[in-house]
Amino acid sequence: MEQLVQQIEAYKQEIAAFEAATPVAVEEFRIKYLGTKGLVKTVMGEMKNVPNDRKKEFGQVLNEFKLFAENKYETLQNSHQSPAASQEQIDWSLPGDPVAVGTRHPLSIVRNQIVSIFRRLGFAVAEGPEIEDDWHNFGAMNLPEDHPARDMQDTFYISQNPAWLLRTHTSSVQARVMETEKPPIRVICPGRVYRNETISARAHCFFHQVEGLYIDDNVSFADLKQTLYFFVQEMFGKEVKVRFRPSYFPFTEPSAEMDISCLICGGNGCNICKHTGWVEILGSGMVHPKVLENFDIDPNKYTGFAFGMGVERITQLKFQVNDLRLYSQNDVRFLKQFTGVI
Ligand code: DAH
Repeated sequence: MEQLVQQIEAYKQEIAAFEAATPVAVEEFRIKYLGTKGLVKTVMGEMKNVPNDRKKEFGQVLNEFKLFAENKYETLQNSHQSPAASQEQIDWSLPGDPVAVGTRHPLSIVRNQIVSIFRRLGFAVAEGPEIEDDWHNFGAMNLPEDHPARDMQDTFYISQNPAWLLRTHTSSVQARVMETEKPPIRVICPGRVYRNETISARAHCFFHQVEGLYIDDNVSFADLKQTLYFFVQEMFGKEVKVRFRPSYFPFTEPSAEMDISCLICGGNGCNICKHTGWVEILGSGMVHPKVLENFDIDPNKYTGFAFGMGVERITQLKFQVNDLRLYSQNDVRFLKQFTGVI
Protein backbone atom coordinates (compact mmCIF):
# COMPACT_ATOMS: atom_id res chain seq x y z
CA MET A 1 0.00 0.00 0.00
CA GLU A 2 2.88 2.41 0.77
CA GLN A 3 3.90 2.15 -2.84
CA LEU A 4 0.42 3.16 -3.92
CA VAL A 5 0.44 6.22 -1.65
CA GLN A 6 3.76 7.29 -3.10
CA GLN A 7 2.38 6.86 -6.58
CA ILE A 8 -0.58 9.10 -5.70
CA GLU A 9 1.82 11.73 -4.37
CA ALA A 10 3.66 11.68 -7.70
CA TYR A 11 0.37 12.10 -9.59
CA LYS A 12 -0.47 15.06 -7.40
CA GLN A 13 2.76 16.77 -8.32
CA GLU A 14 2.08 16.06 -11.96
CA ILE A 15 -1.39 17.58 -11.59
CA ALA A 16 -0.10 20.65 -9.75
CA ALA A 17 2.39 21.30 -12.54
CA PHE A 18 -0.18 20.84 -15.31
CA GLU A 19 -0.65 23.91 -17.45
CA ALA A 20 -3.36 24.37 -20.06
CA ALA A 21 -2.88 27.01 -22.73
CA THR A 22 -6.17 26.35 -24.50
CA PRO A 23 -9.66 25.02 -23.65
CA VAL A 24 -8.70 21.89 -25.60
CA ALA A 25 -5.89 21.25 -23.11
CA VAL A 26 -8.38 21.71 -20.22
CA GLU A 27 -10.54 19.02 -21.75
CA GLU A 28 -7.50 16.78 -22.13
CA PHE A 29 -6.83 17.22 -18.42
CA ARG A 30 -10.41 16.20 -17.61
CA ILE A 31 -10.19 13.07 -19.72
CA LYS A 32 -6.79 12.06 -18.40
CA TYR A 33 -7.53 12.52 -14.69
CA LEU A 34 -11.30 12.71 -14.17
CA GLY A 35 -12.76 10.81 -17.11
CA THR A 36 -14.46 7.41 -16.78
CA LYS A 37 -11.15 5.76 -17.67
CA GLY A 38 -9.09 8.49 -15.98
CA LEU A 39 -6.38 8.13 -13.35
CA VAL A 40 -8.60 9.00 -10.40
CA LYS A 41 -10.98 6.15 -11.24
CA THR A 42 -8.09 3.73 -11.81
CA VAL A 43 -6.50 4.52 -8.45
CA MET A 44 -9.87 4.15 -6.74
CA GLY A 45 -10.10 0.67 -8.21
CA GLU A 46 -7.06 -0.27 -6.08
CA MET A 47 -9.24 -0.10 -2.96
CA LYS A 48 -10.16 -3.74 -3.35
CA ASN A 49 -6.49 -4.78 -2.99
CA VAL A 50 -6.01 -2.91 0.28
CA PRO A 51 -6.23 -4.98 3.49
CA ASN A 52 -9.44 -4.40 5.45
CA ASP A 53 -7.84 -2.78 8.50
CA ARG A 54 -6.27 -0.07 6.32
CA LYS A 55 -9.20 0.62 4.06
CA LYS A 56 -10.35 3.63 6.10
CA GLU A 57 -6.92 5.27 6.00
CA PHE A 58 -6.55 4.62 2.26
CA GLY A 59 -10.07 5.90 1.63
CA GLN A 60 -9.05 9.29 3.03
CA VAL A 61 -5.97 9.44 0.80
CA LEU A 62 -8.13 8.61 -2.21
CA ASN A 63 -10.74 11.24 -1.39
CA GLU A 64 -8.11 13.90 -0.99
CA PHE A 65 -6.61 12.92 -4.31
CA LYS A 66 -9.96 13.14 -6.06
CA LEU A 67 -10.68 16.58 -4.56
CA PHE A 68 -7.21 17.74 -5.52
CA ALA A 69 -7.77 16.79 -9.17
CA GLU A 70 -11.25 18.31 -9.20
CA ASN A 71 -10.05 21.62 -7.75
CA LYS A 72 -7.31 21.82 -10.30
CA TYR A 73 -9.82 21.18 -13.08
CA GLU A 74 -12.03 23.98 -11.79
CA THR A 75 -9.09 26.39 -11.67
CA LEU A 76 -8.11 25.49 -15.23
CA GLN A 77 -11.69 25.97 -16.43
CA ASN A 78 -12.02 29.37 -14.75
CA SER A 79 -8.82 30.61 -16.28
CA HIS A 80 -10.31 29.96 -19.71
CA GLN A 81 -13.56 31.69 -18.99
CA SER A 82 -12.00 35.06 -18.28
CA PRO A 83 -12.64 37.69 -20.97
CA ALA A 84 -8.94 37.93 -21.68
CA ALA A 85 -8.74 34.22 -22.37
CA SER A 86 -11.89 34.01 -24.49
CA GLN A 87 -10.81 36.97 -26.57
CA GLU A 88 -8.09 34.82 -28.06
CA GLN A 89 -10.73 32.41 -29.36
CA ILE A 90 -13.25 34.83 -30.88
CA ASP A 91 -12.67 36.75 -34.08
CA TRP A 92 -14.45 40.02 -33.37
CA SER A 93 -14.00 41.17 -36.95
CA LEU A 94 -16.39 38.51 -38.34
CA PRO A 95 -19.71 40.00 -39.54
CA GLY A 96 -22.68 39.29 -37.23
CA ASP A 97 -25.92 37.50 -38.10
CA PRO A 98 -28.53 39.99 -39.29
CA VAL A 99 -31.51 40.40 -36.95
CA ALA A 100 -34.83 40.33 -38.82
CA VAL A 101 -36.74 43.39 -37.62
CA GLY A 102 -40.53 43.12 -37.57
CA THR A 103 -42.80 45.89 -38.81
CA ARG A 104 -46.08 47.17 -37.54
CA HIS A 105 -49.16 46.07 -39.48
CA PRO A 106 -50.51 48.92 -41.65
CA LEU A 107 -53.89 48.68 -39.90
CA SER A 108 -52.17 49.08 -36.52
CA ILE A 109 -50.19 52.05 -37.80
CA VAL A 110 -53.37 53.79 -38.96
CA ARG A 111 -55.41 52.83 -35.88
CA ASN A 112 -52.67 54.28 -33.67
CA GLN A 113 -52.69 57.49 -35.69
CA ILE A 114 -56.47 57.80 -35.42
CA VAL A 115 -56.32 57.17 -31.67
CA SER A 116 -53.56 59.70 -31.16
CA ILE A 117 -55.43 62.46 -33.05
CA PHE A 118 -58.58 61.97 -30.96
CA ARG A 119 -56.60 61.70 -27.75
CA ARG A 120 -55.31 65.21 -28.41
CA LEU A 121 -58.96 66.34 -28.44
CA GLY A 122 -59.52 64.74 -25.04
CA PHE A 123 -61.10 61.45 -26.13
CA ALA A 124 -60.30 58.41 -23.99
CA VAL A 125 -60.03 54.88 -25.43
CA ALA A 126 -62.78 52.37 -24.54
CA GLU A 127 -63.01 48.72 -25.51
CA GLY A 128 -65.70 46.06 -25.47
CA PRO A 129 -66.12 42.34 -26.22
CA GLU A 130 -66.14 40.95 -29.78
CA ILE A 131 -68.73 38.36 -28.78
CA GLU A 132 -71.79 40.44 -27.92
CA ASP A 133 -75.42 39.96 -27.03
CA ASP A 134 -78.31 41.24 -29.11
CA TRP A 135 -79.03 44.11 -26.73
CA HIS A 136 -75.64 45.80 -26.88
CA ASN A 137 -75.17 45.30 -30.61
CA PHE A 138 -78.73 46.05 -31.76
CA GLY A 139 -81.44 46.67 -29.15
CA ALA A 140 -79.74 49.43 -27.18
CA MET A 141 -78.70 51.07 -30.45
CA ASN A 142 -82.37 51.53 -31.35
CA LEU A 143 -82.59 48.51 -33.64
CA PRO A 144 -85.48 46.47 -32.19
CA GLU A 145 -85.90 42.88 -33.34
CA ASP A 146 -87.99 43.49 -36.44
CA HIS A 147 -86.09 46.56 -37.55
CA PRO A 148 -85.30 46.36 -41.28
CA ALA A 149 -81.91 48.01 -40.78
CA ARG A 150 -80.69 44.78 -39.17
CA ASP A 151 -80.57 43.33 -42.67
CA MET A 152 -77.92 45.89 -43.58
CA GLN A 153 -75.50 43.99 -41.37
CA ASP A 154 -75.30 40.25 -42.03
CA THR A 155 -74.70 38.89 -38.60
CA PHE A 156 -72.74 35.84 -37.47
CA TYR A 157 -74.61 34.16 -34.60
CA ILE A 158 -72.83 31.81 -32.20
CA SER A 159 -74.22 28.35 -32.98
CA GLN A 160 -74.10 27.05 -29.37
CA ASN A 161 -76.13 30.03 -28.18
CA PRO A 162 -77.94 32.22 -30.73
CA ALA A 163 -78.41 34.89 -28.07
CA TRP A 164 -74.76 35.66 -28.73
CA LEU A 165 -73.30 37.10 -31.89
CA LEU A 166 -70.07 38.54 -33.24
CA ARG A 167 -70.45 42.30 -33.04
CA THR A 168 -71.26 43.83 -36.41
CA HIS A 169 -70.05 47.30 -35.45
CA THR A 170 -68.18 49.02 -32.65
CA SER A 171 -71.37 50.96 -31.82
CA SER A 172 -71.91 48.15 -29.30
CA VAL A 173 -69.09 49.70 -27.25
CA GLN A 174 -71.12 52.93 -27.05
CA ALA A 175 -73.76 50.90 -25.25
CA ARG A 176 -71.20 49.40 -22.89
CA VAL A 177 -69.77 52.84 -22.06
CA MET A 178 -73.16 54.49 -21.45
CA GLU A 179 -74.08 51.57 -19.21
CA THR A 180 -71.25 52.32 -16.79
CA GLU A 181 -70.48 56.03 -17.24
CA LYS A 182 -72.48 59.20 -16.95
CA PRO A 183 -71.94 62.41 -19.00
CA PRO A 184 -69.63 64.04 -19.82
CA ILE A 185 -68.56 61.08 -21.98
CA ARG A 186 -65.86 61.45 -24.59
CA VAL A 187 -64.53 58.14 -25.92
CA ILE A 188 -63.27 56.45 -29.04
CA CYS A 189 -63.58 52.70 -29.42
CA PRO A 190 -61.21 50.95 -31.83
CA GLY A 191 -61.89 47.29 -32.55
CA ARG A 192 -62.57 44.40 -34.87
CA VAL A 193 -66.06 43.71 -36.23
CA TYR A 194 -67.58 40.81 -38.18
CA ARG A 195 -70.11 40.46 -40.99
CA ASN A 196 -71.21 37.48 -43.00
CA GLU A 197 -69.84 38.66 -46.34
CA THR A 198 -68.19 36.75 -49.15
CA ILE A 199 -64.49 37.59 -49.11
CA SER A 200 -63.32 39.64 -52.10
CA ALA A 201 -61.04 42.58 -52.83
CA ARG A 202 -63.80 44.92 -51.59
CA ALA A 203 -65.42 42.98 -48.75
CA HIS A 204 -64.26 40.81 -45.87
CA CYS A 205 -65.94 38.88 -43.10
CA PHE A 206 -63.97 40.85 -40.52
CA PHE A 207 -62.63 44.37 -40.54
CA HIS A 208 -61.87 47.20 -38.12
CA GLN A 209 -63.72 50.28 -37.01
CA VAL A 210 -63.15 53.22 -34.74
CA GLU A 211 -66.28 54.48 -33.03
CA GLY A 212 -66.53 57.89 -31.40
CA LEU A 213 -68.99 59.17 -28.80
CA TYR A 214 -69.25 62.58 -27.17
CA ILE A 215 -72.08 63.40 -24.77
CA ASP A 216 -72.30 66.56 -22.67
CA ASP A 217 -74.46 69.70 -22.21
CA ASN A 218 -74.84 71.62 -25.44
CA VAL A 219 -73.02 69.31 -27.84
CA SER A 220 -74.13 70.39 -31.32
CA PHE A 221 -73.86 69.27 -34.92
CA ALA A 222 -71.32 72.07 -35.38
CA ASP A 223 -69.10 70.32 -32.80
CA LEU A 224 -69.44 67.09 -34.75
CA LYS A 225 -68.45 68.75 -38.03
CA GLN A 226 -65.51 70.63 -36.56
CA THR A 227 -64.18 67.56 -34.72
CA LEU A 228 -64.29 65.40 -37.84
CA TYR A 229 -62.87 68.18 -40.00
CA PHE A 230 -59.94 68.52 -37.59
CA PHE A 231 -59.48 64.76 -37.72
CA VAL A 232 -59.22 64.51 -41.53
CA GLN A 233 -56.88 67.47 -41.74
CA GLU A 234 -54.56 65.87 -39.19
CA MET A 235 -54.82 62.51 -40.91
CA PHE A 236 -54.58 63.52 -44.57
CA GLY A 237 -53.23 67.07 -44.64
CA LYS A 238 -54.66 70.57 -44.92
CA GLU A 239 -55.61 70.32 -48.61
CA VAL A 240 -58.23 67.64 -48.10
CA LYS A 241 -61.83 68.73 -48.67
CA VAL A 242 -64.85 67.32 -46.81
CA ARG A 243 -68.55 67.13 -47.47
CA PHE A 244 -71.44 65.83 -45.40
CA ARG A 245 -74.35 63.98 -46.99
CA PRO A 246 -77.64 63.36 -45.18
CA SER A 247 -77.99 59.67 -44.32
CA TYR A 248 -79.84 57.29 -42.05
CA PHE A 249 -78.70 55.33 -39.00
CA PRO A 250 -81.16 54.10 -36.36
CA PHE A 251 -78.91 55.30 -33.53
CA THR A 252 -78.50 58.92 -34.71
CA GLU A 253 -80.87 61.70 -35.71
CA PRO A 254 -80.03 63.58 -37.83
CA SER A 255 -77.43 61.35 -39.50
CA ALA A 256 -74.76 62.16 -42.04
CA GLU A 257 -72.07 60.40 -44.00
CA MET A 258 -68.83 62.22 -44.51
CA ASP A 259 -66.86 62.13 -47.76
CA ILE A 260 -63.37 63.44 -48.36
CA SER A 261 -61.88 64.49 -51.68
CA CYS A 262 -60.20 61.48 -53.31
CA LEU A 263 -56.53 61.43 -52.40
CA ILE A 264 -55.65 58.91 -55.06
CA CYS A 265 -56.66 61.02 -58.08
CA GLY A 266 -56.82 64.44 -56.40
CA GLY A 267 -60.54 64.65 -57.14
CA ASN A 268 -60.24 64.07 -60.90
CA GLY A 269 -61.96 60.70 -60.83
CA CYS A 270 -60.51 57.17 -60.54
CA ASN A 271 -61.53 53.60 -59.65
CA ILE A 272 -61.29 54.18 -55.91
CA CYS A 273 -63.73 57.11 -55.94
CA LYS A 274 -65.80 55.52 -58.71
CA HIS A 275 -65.05 58.60 -60.83
CA THR A 276 -66.86 60.95 -58.48
CA GLY A 277 -63.82 62.61 -56.91
CA TRP A 278 -65.20 61.83 -53.41
CA VAL A 279 -64.71 58.88 -51.04
CA GLU A 280 -67.00 58.07 -48.12
CA ILE A 281 -65.01 57.55 -44.92
CA LEU A 282 -67.50 57.52 -42.06
CA GLY A 283 -71.03 57.58 -40.75
CA SER A 284 -72.07 60.01 -38.02
CA GLY A 285 -74.89 61.91 -36.40
CA MET A 286 -76.44 63.27 -33.23
CA VAL A 287 -77.10 60.47 -30.74
CA HIS A 288 -80.79 59.45 -30.98
CA PRO A 289 -82.81 60.46 -27.86
CA LYS A 290 -84.00 56.85 -27.56
CA VAL A 291 -80.42 55.62 -27.26
CA LEU A 292 -79.77 58.11 -24.45
CA GLU A 293 -82.99 57.08 -22.70
CA ASN A 294 -81.95 53.42 -22.88
CA PHE A 295 -79.19 54.35 -20.45
CA ASP A 296 -81.13 56.80 -18.28
CA ILE A 297 -79.40 59.80 -19.76
CA ASP A 298 -81.93 62.65 -19.98
CA PRO A 299 -82.13 63.81 -23.65
CA ASN A 300 -83.55 67.16 -22.54
CA LYS A 301 -80.44 67.82 -20.54
CA TYR A 302 -77.73 66.17 -22.63
CA THR A 303 -76.97 65.88 -26.32
CA GLY A 304 -74.20 64.07 -28.08
CA PHE A 305 -72.65 63.11 -31.36
CA ALA A 306 -71.32 59.78 -32.56
CA PHE A 307 -69.40 58.52 -35.55
CA GLY A 308 -67.97 55.28 -36.89
CA MET A 309 -65.23 54.84 -39.45
CA GLY A 310 -63.57 51.86 -41.14
CA VAL A 311 -59.85 51.55 -40.47
CA GLU A 312 -59.32 49.58 -43.71
CA ARG A 313 -60.80 52.41 -45.75
CA ILE A 314 -58.59 55.06 -44.13
CA THR A 315 -55.57 52.79 -44.63
CA GLN A 316 -56.47 52.26 -48.27
CA LEU A 317 -56.47 56.02 -48.82
CA LYS A 318 -53.26 56.55 -46.85
CA PHE A 319 -51.23 53.72 -48.34
CA GLN A 320 -53.14 52.99 -51.57
CA VAL A 321 -53.90 49.37 -50.69
CA ASN A 322 -56.53 48.20 -53.16
CA ASP A 323 -57.32 44.68 -52.01
CA LEU A 324 -58.80 44.06 -48.56
CA ARG A 325 -57.49 40.50 -48.52
CA LEU A 326 -53.89 41.72 -48.30
CA TYR A 327 -54.47 42.82 -44.71
CA SER A 328 -55.00 39.29 -43.42
CA GLN A 329 -52.79 37.17 -45.69
CA ASN A 330 -49.61 37.84 -43.69
CA ASP A 331 -47.50 38.01 -46.82
CA VAL A 332 -44.17 39.52 -45.73
CA ARG A 333 -43.68 41.08 -49.17
CA PHE A 334 -46.74 43.22 -48.39
CA LEU A 335 -46.02 43.77 -44.70
CA LYS A 336 -42.38 44.78 -45.05
CA GLN A 337 -43.35 47.73 -47.25
CA PHE A 338 -44.37 49.48 -44.06
CA THR A 339 -40.87 49.30 -42.51
CA GLY A 340 -39.98 52.56 -40.85
CA VAL A 341 -43.55 53.96 -40.88
CA ILE A 342 -44.61 54.33 -37.27
N1 DAH B 1 -72.22 51.56 -36.93
C1 DAH B 1 -72.18 52.08 -38.28
C2 DAH B 1 -71.70 51.00 -39.23
O1 DAH B 1 -71.15 50.04 -38.81
C3 DAH B 1 -71.24 53.25 -38.34
C4 DAH B 1 -71.75 54.40 -37.58
C5 DAH B 1 -72.57 55.33 -38.19
C6 DAH B 1 -71.42 54.59 -36.26
C7 DAH B 1 -73.06 56.41 -37.52
C8 DAH B 1 -71.92 55.68 -35.55
C9 DAH B 1 -72.73 56.59 -36.21
O2 DAH B 1 -71.64 55.90 -34.29
O3 DAH B 1 -73.20 57.66 -35.54
O4 DAH B 1 -71.92 51.13 -40.41
